[in-house]
Amino acid sequence: MPSTTWNRHHVLSLADFTTAEYDTVLQTAASFQEVLSRRTKKVPSLQGQVVANLFFEPSTRTRSSFELAAKRLSADTLNFAAASSSMTKGETILDTAKTYLAMGTDIMVIRHKEAGVPNAIAQEMDRLGVRVSVLNAGDGQHEHPSQALLDLFTICTLIDPANPRLELLKGKKIAIVGDILHSRVARSNIWSLTASGAEVHLAAPPTLLPKLFTEYVFDEESESPEQKHPSSSPIPPSPHRQLSLHWELEPALQDADFVMTLRLQKERMTAHLLPSLREYHQMFGITRPKLQLCKPHVKVLHPGPVNRGVEISSDLMDDPEFSLIQSQVTSGIAIRMALLYLLGSSKI
Ligand code: NCD
Repeated sequence: MPSTTWNRHHVLSLADFTTAEYDTVLQTAASFQEVLSRRTKKVPSLQGQVVANLFFEPSTRTRSSFELAAKRLSADTLNFAAASSSMTKGETILDTAKTYLAMGTDIMVIRHKEAGVPNAIAQEMDRLGVRVSVLNAGDGQHEHPSQALLDLFTICTLIDPANPRLELLKGKKIAIVGDILHSRVARSNIWSLTASGAEVHLAAPPTLLPKLFTEYVFDEESESPEQKHPSSSPIPPSPHRQLSLHWELEPALQDADFVMTLRLQKERMTAHLLPSLREYHQMFGITRPKLQLCKPHVKVLHPGPVNRGVEISSDLMDDPEFSLIQSQVTSGIAIRMALLYLLGSSKI
């Protein structure tokens, strides 16, 4: 394992991640990526530890990815799905978490449709004085740190497979396109990508990217005071973070190195925010002709699940020359192994 800079007990948000922490996660993931290429894709690092996946909201790839990552580290795994649990009998979230604590859980991986649930469970664990780590696997519209870290790892390993590190993205242009308003993936990616020195361009219709979006994101309490921008200024939040907002696609795509497209999150939309999916696809859907505005070797990312033909055209999604979607899923296992390892090894 690489020499580590890691003092974190929980991973709840990327808002206060340091460059050294990003690099530690990326380098640890790179060494696990090597493990995953072996015939025996398993190491004993977390033998004897219990990882509980507490998913209070549906998930395919994140839940499976955390489960496989824990198994590859030889941890024992517990899987919980709200619909088939005692929550249907009225048990509260904190009581469910305490039940898993009483079974000897070391790391709780938590997904919930409400923002702040992983933080509340982490606070409760700290109040109880137990050495349980909480990993946020997506909370409401708030954050999805492991997704942003796997996106970062996917991009960095493409640039330098042997030595992925944050500085590789300095000066790269990255467009994030789509339902930014409802996206926890966008929020976590904004922290990591702007921390790298990349130029981050957000593009969406005004209903999915309100003018005050940056204020909303960067007003997090965890943002350090010197990075905090005066609340009267809508954009940009800090001289160190390069973030631009666009209500048209073209300026965001112009000369972009990477385009990250996001799902229209209909389950989180409380109003009719779009005229029609067809019109949305015409204006903001990523297609082969629109990519001609970008750098010649542009790559496209999507966290999944994808609405084929809405946020990205079906043929582009399946084209390995442009699409990093499958690599993102593969990177997810190494990144989650790294996070579980870093949290778990601080307990040994
Ligand atoms: C994302 C999520 O759940 O936030 N998916 C994921 O974790 N891979 C994005 C989405 O739901 O659109």
